[in-house]
Amino acid sequence: MSKELYQDAELFIRQCYEELEKSGVEERLADIHQSIQNRGTYDHTFEELEYGAKVAWRNSNRCIGRLFWNSLKVFDHRELDKEEDIRDALFDHIDYATNDGRIRATISIFRPKRLSQEIRLWNHQLLRYAGYQTEYGVIGDPASVEFTKKCQDLGWQGGGGSFDILPIVIEVDGNEPQMFDIPKDKILEVPLKHPDYSWFEDLELKWYAVPIISDMQLEIGGLHYTAAPFNGWYMETEIGARNLADEFRYNLLPTVAEAMGLNTKRNSSLWKDRALIELNQAVIHSYKTDKVNIVDHHSAAQQFQLFENKEQKCGREATGDWTWLIPPVSPASTHIFHSSYNNRMDTPNYFYQENAYTKNPSE
Ligand code: ARG
Repeated sequence: MSKELYQDAELFIRQCYEELEKSGVEERLADIHQSIQNRGTYDHTFEELEYGAKVAWRNSNRCIGRLFWNSLKVFDHRELDKEEDIRDALFDHIDYATNDGRIRATISIFRPKRLSQEIRLWNHQLLRYAGYQTEYGVIGDPASVEFTKKCQDLGWQGGGGSFDILPIVIEVDGNEPQMFDIPKDKILEVPLKHPDYSWFEDLELKWYAVPIISDMQLEIGGLHYTAAPFNGWYMETEIGARNLADEFRYNLLPTVAEAMGLNTKRNSSLWKDRALIELNQAVIHSYKTDKVNIVDHHSAAQQFQLFENKEQKCGREATGDWTWLIPPVSPASTHIFHSSYNNRMDTPNYFYQENAYTKNPSE
């Protein structure tokens, strides 16, 4: 019998029962011990699963949005193992989380890995834009080039545009991966416009409403949930200062700066900084006018401070990864920049796992 699994289970179950002030922990542990002896594994109750998923969020050192960890909606889909059923559950997740723009933090949990049997979603996020390698460079999102090629190998006909939503690819227990297009009516997107610059909408930029990370592994009490897509809502800098701005992503700072009439020949004109601010302002303005939840980085930092205070009151220490917690725009204007955090990884947590389609460790 796996001693290690039992030890991980015991640690988690004791924490769960103590924090939820439940009685009967010894009986539960005896059950689990028996189960691991009989069949090499054990099952979480829904209560344990829900608590585990929430605490995994609370322990996510790189996330600035953790104040809301306890309001995570947990869908238990451990009974599914047909690709079509998993697809339908994922479509339901997208609908529930999107909620016409009033985004709800949501996770859908599929059955955990057992020996070499595992469910894997090949997508990095359920909703993401394709990237096409062409002789003139990349069209679309350069971060998606590899996965886009995989989809094309599986028979996907990409439109070749800048913002084509990729299909969902589901692999069950090493079987041939199954690919499904997401119905258009499930995908909420926000066309970008600027509150003062009318030319901005002529750039024809947009982004999707809900970031649903689908390639990480949720670990609870020694069980590994290899398919457990989860989402919160966006902070504007993720879109305006990274996805659309990074040179290795959509690389739009030169385009925006030139439209603003800035001198892009001189670094000292601070054209990159000024373009960044206007791009971020456009993201906030567009999501707000379309009534799609988004948080600016100043409010997010204030919420994170509340989280830190709450954790302290509960006798815990908020762990964190400073390099990720500071926003990429005006970091020193937030308290996070002037604080330090313990980057210890507690469990339950969300971990990177081997890339499902290249079988390489992913970051
Ligand atoms: N940074 C990623 C993106 O831009 C999303 C990561 C999760 N973000 C979130 N707000 N929950 O797509």
